[in-house]
Amino acid sequence: MGPIIEVKELSKIYSSGYQALKNINLDIQRGEIFALLGPNGAGKTTLISIICGIVNASSGTVFADGHDIVSDYRAARSRIGLVPQELSTDAFETVWATVTFSRGLFGKPPSPAHIEKVLRALSLWDKKDAKLIELSGGMKRRVMIAKALSHEPRILFLDEPTAGVDVELRRDMWEMVRGLRADGVTIILTTHYIEEAEEMADRIGVISSGEIILIEEKNQLMQKLGKKELTLQLQEPLTELPRISSAEGLKLSDDGTELIYTFSTVAEQTSIARLLRELAEQGIEFKDLKTRESSLEEIFVSLVGTKA
Ligand SMILES: Nc1ncnc2c1ncn2[C@@H]1O[C@H](COP(=O)(O)OP(=O)(O)OP(=O)(O)O)[C@@H](O)[C@H]1O
Ligand SMILES: [Mg+2]
Repeated sequence: MGPIIEVKELSKIYSSGYQALKNINLDIQRGEIFALLGPNGAGKTTLISIICGIVNASSGTVFADGHDIVSDYRAARSRIGLVPQELSTDAFETVWATVTFSRGLFGKPPSPAHIEKVLRALSLWDKKDAKLIELSGGMKRRVMIAKALSHEPRILFLDEPTAGVDVELRRDMWEMVRGLRADGVTIILTTHYIEEAEEMADRIGVISSGEIILIEEKNQLMQKLGKKELTLQLQEPLTELPRISSAEGLKLSDDGTELIYTFSTVAEQTSIARLLRELAEQGIEFKDLKTRESSLEEIFVSLVGTKA
């Protein structure tokens, strides 16, 4: 079986003339959690909206579970659940009615048991008869998720699912997302909380100004681009870099007072031990040391030059 979502040479020019997406190629694998990161206006919502059939592409193709999203719209759409960035709800409907209706929209036979399961999983069961207008913002967001899950989609898009939700709900959502993945659901999420991607995602895609600039396994990304830095403040300034067998990644600050050793986050501890031993052997003493590690956030900022 191929990828569950295949995006080929997708471009979008809005009627205003603005090009929001430029030749996007993207495969989403079955069962993965894929985090799409990018600054405001990068094109994340546009891309998701096209895949979900809400916005038309200007060129290119998208297949969802093998179905062309244009020529085979219904089949494609039935496989997809979408939790949109912007909440829109029918204020005077009850939770139960809204979620039940949503399932019907996809032509699925009624299943009160499934709706109950979804509402219970989202801690909405005791609110099932409440009107949406009576719910808090976080609860409304849960209702949007319940709607997206009402027709048992195999692919779930979450566009900023945790924007403005409290820590507890965020944890609940992560828990739920993991549970869905365990059931074989493929999840694509966007988030501005990069630690969320760091925690949840199997793969990360970074989009900037309508272009995908990176797609990588999260662990590899952290290993490849993640760096640790050890700074040694020297007792006596040096005029040149000491001769060390593992000198790669070792630099002397301009004023000669600090040795800065940069190494990958996966680097063996032994390289630091060796460095310190060799410095000691050469009588180079230091009065203080600092270490720091780059987060996915820093990696991200270094890629796009701005915060998500
Ligand atoms: N209906 C529209 N008409 C014209 N331009 C649009 C329209 N919708 C979005 N855009 C533009 O397309 C670009 C991408 O917008 P999009 O909503 O996809 O960004 P995003 O990555 O989701 O951003 P955010 O992180 O703020 O949600 C932006 O420059 C936006 O102004
Ligand atoms: Mg958006």
